[in-house]
Amino acid sequence: MRIIKTKDYDELSCRAADIIAAQVLLKPDCVLGLATGSSPVGTYKELIKKYKTGALDFSKVKSVNLDEYVGLAPDHEQSYAYFMYENLFAHINIDLTNTNVPSGIAPDAAAECARYDALIASYGRIDLQLLGLGSNGHIGFNEPSDQFPTGTHQVALTDSTIQANKRFFKQESAVPRHARTMGIRDIMQAKRVLMVVSGTSKAETVRTAFAGPVTPSVPASVLQLHSNFTLVADEAALSLLLNL
Ligand code: GLP
Repeated sequence: MRIIKTKDYDELSCRAADIIAAQVLLKPDCVLGLATGSSPVGTYKELIKKYKTGALDFSKVKSVNLDEYVGLAPDHEQSYAYFMYENLFAHINIDLTNTNVPSGIAPDAAAECARYDALIASYGRIDLQLLGLGSNGHIGFNEPSDQFPTGTHQVALTDSTIQANKRFFKQESAVPRHARTMGIRDIMQAKRVLMVVSGTSKAETVRTAFAGPVTPSVPASVLQLHSNFTLVADEAALSLLLNL
């Protein structure tokens, strides 16, 4: 794994956006795996800036998002479909019909997860998968478990994830208890994986995930096995990793 250490969140966002921009320039019809959460917001802002200067063309890019809350329609302001539209898609020239987020409202969970895996397979491999890091070590919504889930699946969110994500909702009871997420296999099959992590609150999770054993109890630790994994993190997030 490669680690890019930045001074702060702004520099982190620029470095991550540079890597994604290079991917789009090198392969204009690439498949981007995209992420939500607060960590990638700055990266998306930098990509939008690049697009507005004319440096980037997203017209042939396809995207697959990691996950979605069960029960939230795409027009719900806390749905990840809405997040992607507001934070990226509305501001660039990506063809919305080429953007994909798992449905949180399709009634048959198994059918929706199978549909999403078939869709990813139909695109071939994801060229670059962007990730954030959950405070309990989750990636997408692959929560700590006793085995690595493979394909897209429905998951019960852990209490720590509900606590971490309640800041986006009016009250804790409004946080969905389930989500649909790409599995670890989907993520690990991406050609490149890029993770953005910021802040001291994630430092212990970074240490556990990347200096500890590979274990499904810390899902992000599996990325130690990926042949093209880059962690872009600020000094604060890396503060408990030794020898940097
Ligand atoms: C959510 C998302 C993850 C994201 C995580 C961390 O749970 N499902 O994909 O990485 O939050 O979010 P943040 O970047 O806001 O800390």
